[in-house]
Amino acid sequence: MKPNANERKPVSEIYYPSERILKDAHIKDYDKLYKESIADPVGFWEREAENLDWFKRWDIGLDDSNKPFYQWFAGGKINIIHNAIDRHLKNWRRNKLALIWEGEPGDIRTYSYFELNRGVCKFANVLKSMGVKKGDIVTIYMPQIPELAISMLACAKIGAVHSVVYGGFSVEALAERIQDAHSRVLVTADGGWRRGKIKDLKGIVNEAIKRSPTIEVCITVKRTGHDVYMENDRDFWYHDLMGLPIASPVCDTEVMDAEDILFILYTSGTTGRPKGVVHTHGGYAVYTATTHKYVFDIKDEDRWWCAADPGWITGHSYIIYGPLINASTIIMYEGAPNHPYPSRWWNMIEKYGVTILYTSPTAIRGLMRFGDQWAKRHDLSCLRLLGSVGEPLNPEAWRWYYNVIGKAACPIMDTWWQTETGGFVITPLPVTPLKPGSVFKPFLGNQIAVVDENGKEVPKGEEGFLVIKTPWPGMARTIHRDPDRYVELYWKKFEKNGWYKTGDSARIDEDGYIWVIARVDEVIKVSGYRLGTAEIESALVSHPSVAEAAAIALPHEVKGNAIHAYVILRSGITGNKELVDILKEHVAHEMGSIARPEAIEFVDSLPKTRSGKIMRRVIKARALGIDEGDLTTLDE
Ligand code: WT7
Repeated sequence: MKPNANERKPVSEIYYPSERILKDAHIKDYDKLYKESIADPVGFWEREAENLDWFKRWDIGLDDSNKPFYQWFAGGKINIIHNAIDRHLKNWRRNKLALIWEGEPGDIRTYSYFELNRGVCKFANVLKSMGVKKGDIVTIYMPQIPELAISMLACAKIGAVHSVVYGGFSVEALAERIQDAHSRVLVTADGGWRRGKIKDLKGIVNEAIKRSPTIEVCITVKRTGHDVYMENDRDFWYHDLMGLPIASPVCDTEVMDAEDILFILYTSGTTGRPKGVVHTHGGYAVYTATTHKYVFDIKDEDRWWCAADPGWITGHSYIIYGPLINASTIIMYEGAPNHPYPSRWWNMIEKYGVTILYTSPTAIRGLMRFGDQWAKRHDLSCLRLLGSVGEPLNPEAWRWYYNVIGKAACPIMDTWWQTETGGFVITPLPVTPLKPGSVFKPFLGNQIAVVDENGKEVPKGEEGFLVIKTPWPGMARTIHRDPDRYVELYWKKFEKNGWYKTGDSARIDEDGYIWVIARVDEVIKVSGYRLGTAEIESALVSHPSVAEAAAIALPHEVKGNAIHAYVILRSGITGNKELVDILKEHVAHEMGSIARPEAIEFVDSLPKTRSGKIMRRVIKARALGIDEGDLTTLDE
């Protein structure tokens, strides 16, 4: 079957949960609970917060005295690590598996909560010995290995802030993020495995450090063992440090204010510079734990596999923090889904008895392309629930996931959220009837709307801007070192209503089901990865042969969208096939291979407004051969 990511027409079929799901669900009546939750959202979240361990109870559930800089559980004292690890050590869960990890070459490591804690304490002490203190930002650039989780958790334990940079990013992207964070300490690995090849992370790190004068210490995990350059007094091997007496397995968990920063995570936006989205210890802990528990009906016997990379928010919230707070057993896999054969994932599910799989539409469509026979070779009856995130899951891929992987017995939780929301905002629950392609309705406590330019709700079935009307504990608190941009990007447009602008368009059908359509800003989603057109364009323009560039997203079968770039060359330079390849490679080198354009076309001019803004909407309409819409602002 050929996947069609662009099948977007709403479908009428409805899927109901089975007895097995209904019987065990944490939440049985969404409608009733939802109504109660939005009658008093702060009260709802305060009750959920009571499921966590606080060093001191909060004074105010929601402090909204300085909008839009909301504070949740103000005055409360907590540490997310105390909830994700420490408290589990006091009961039988100290022996429960926290992490089952498999490397791409097939090596396996497991950690009980007891062992995870030992690793985290030891590395926390290593960080302290390197002078890392509460509030310092540590940059982490790693493949998907247990030490990535340990490094993040160790930072949080001592009150340091982590900034994880996705291991697929290039020198430029890494350097830019280190510089914005002013990090003094960097944690990395020599490399990682991807499709049977070594990805040389330390080589990239060494280049990035040359451009990042704040870095004084670089700690490297030996993963692949290939030759890497290590500089005296700056570079240390992780295993050497972990073998020293300073790496004691005993370490106190720092007492944090609920609103102290837990991490920053860079994401792409409307301007060239990536934004460091800020999340905190208290609200984020409550939000990730609550959403994870209810949306995926988490039970002690579950084996939870979120097949994202910890380098993205999905990994932060639903590989690491939410699941650990809920004392889940986490599955983590280092490599590519189809390496060395297309059933690698299905094999993992059978082998480890995975009960819940949470992945992306791109991965689903990519695996669907290989045909049903690969999944049929494995016993997937251990699965109970499925999930999806990152971009719209088209009905055709939904049905394949449901029937071929879930054997028509596992509801699919198509969760809508963002780096900025911290956790699920719009999502089904296991008990709610599902429509393939719809993300259902808001999670408990949340209120959303689909509105026009002026903030007026659009009629049922019509497309509009998706907004979130009320604050929620997992919301981003600001953009690192740029609070004005935070206000400008998310709160300005619907300022008079006080609503959060998501940047997405959506429609709500006659049953109240929400259908997310696409981004309406200059963000492109490629394989679920978020890229800014401005970042791609500035990467292109940084090449000496390029004068000007515009990047747009065009539909793609598997990736959902693919990048198409239109380039004006400098005078005297002729465009040919060779230059296309050079420029594609250049973008991949500058940003990372996820940003490599699908196609590059040389043009003589680009449609612009009279004020000189590139009209990407017009380029896109022309490429698709559809109506160009309103052209009144187009410069002649
Ligand atoms: C954007 C946020 C949240 C983790 C992964 C992405 C799109 C996300 C869905 C979904 C349709 C979705 C939106 C959103 N998106 N989930 N279930 N259906 N679109 O986080 O990189 O911050 O991207 O991803 O466009 O705004 P992100």
